[in-house]
Amino acid sequence: MKIVVDLTNKCNLSCKHCGATKLKDCPEGVMLNFFKELNSDIIDSVDLLGGEPFLHPNIFEIINILNKKGILINIITNGQFNDDFINRISQNNISSIFVSIDGLEKDNDNLRGKGSFKKADNFLKKIIKNNNRFHNISFIGVNTVINVYNKDNLIPFMLYLNGFGENIGWQINPLLGEGKAAENRDLFIKNEDEIDILENIAKNVNLNKNLIVSLNYNLPLILEYLNKRYSTEFPVKGYQCDACISTIYCDEFGDLYPCRKYRKKILSVESMERFQETSKEFLKLSLIENHYIGCDNCAYTGICNNCPLEKERQRPELCQVCENRYVEYINSFKNCIYMVSKDIILENLKNKLVLISIKNDKKYEYDVNGKEIYSLINGKNTVMSISQKLDIDLFDVSYFLYNELIKSNIRILNNSI
Ligand SMILES: C[S@@+](CC[C@H](N)C(=O)[O-])C[C@H]1O[C@@H](n2cnc3c(N)ncnc32)[C@H](O)[C@@H]1O
Ligand code: SF4
Ligand code: SF4
Repeated sequence: MKIVVDLTNKCNLSCKHCGATKLKDCPEGVMLNFFKELNSDIIDSVDLLGGEPFLHPNIFEIINILNKKGILINIITNGQFNDDFINRISQNNISSIFVSIDGLEKDNDNLRGKGSFKKADNFLKKIIKNNNRFHNISFIGVNTVINVYNKDNLIPFMLYLNGFGENIGWQINPLLGEGKAAENRDLFIKNEDEIDILENIAKNVNLNKNLIVSLNYNLPLILEYLNKRYSTEFPVKGYQCDACISTIYCDEFGDLYPCRKYRKKILSVESMERFQETSKEFLKLSLIENHYIGCDNCAYTGICNNCPLEKERQRPELCQVCENRYVEYINSFKNCIYMVSKDIILENLKNKLVLISIKNDKKYEYDVNGKEIYSLINGKNTVMSISQKLDIDLFDVSYFLYNELIKSNIRILNNSI
């Protein structure tokens, strides 16, 4: 089980989008005791956030305690520290450090304050350099939130990050309407622009091999679209609230709750029995499926849940924008004529078709529809005419053939007819 900890309310920046503005002052020593007493039979990793986690007066003692207990540590930092402090951080065993940088200098500083880019850039450079010597930090990355300032310059920023020449992570996040961001609505961008950005990033992922890019979007339709269109490999995962299943939240006073939003029931990790007892009530709520309204036609509706606390929410508009593009893209293949690839053997059985790829030794099976579509791709029929002949929706035929194209089972013979 992982705990996400808001370690301190202190911060040396005042970012315009900060979602953490409601944290309070905590008496010194409280968090230190919390970590001393933490039960490592239940907790195996800790995410340290805040405020700025490296401003906590006991941060290095806390890291030390967690190391001794064998609990993994992940930290997100704003990186506003001098070289001595960076060197000190580098001596510690930490599973991952993500530095928040929200674009190139001007864009980042517009959001995070003047001079913050230079410091964060120096932090990233030094922490990477030191790690080549100490090897104490298993993974180093950058956390970026898409917003109105950086929206046009994320590809140049991607090149800058790729220029570090190491395997560093780049985590891209949507802006959430929390804390200050809830008031600064002009920081948000249009859905169309957001999908444009994700498409541009996806287009460039394979050209920037030093970067391990992840998109913090729990909308599988979007990830599937990007993967299919740009040959990326973003994990296509849905969402099911994992509070009390694999994560819990700890506020700046060391009190444990299922998550940041749910503060009714305090949890205890004193023992497994106590944890089960105190989390029972929340689990009853969170395990109920809570699908968005309007997702009935999406293939992912079964695995796509909204936060259990937000009832009756409409399907995210980003999905609609993406679906329109997906349909348009797939339909652009409607005049294509396909041929079966050379290294494919077709075995026609009674009610199904088995297709064997000589190249990768894979076997694919198709039911009646697939079998019939395959019987018509003999270099003569367009996707449109196959759809008419079989009375199958044009999009479904295009989608089927498009997937076969991606698997290299077929190739395009001519798309100008
Ligand atoms: C709350 S901060 C705490 C750690 C540290 N102070 C920092 O800025 O990296 C953790 C991450 O959340 C991001 N964040 C803050 N407000 C956000 C919001 N409204 N939507 C999405 N991400 C946000 C920050 O940019 C940062 O990368
Ligand atoms: S995002 Fe991080 S650095 Fe910026 S104000 Fe919030 S806690 Fe501080
Ligand atoms: S359309 Fe609905 S089910 Fe499909 S990915 Fe989006 S939210 Fe999930």
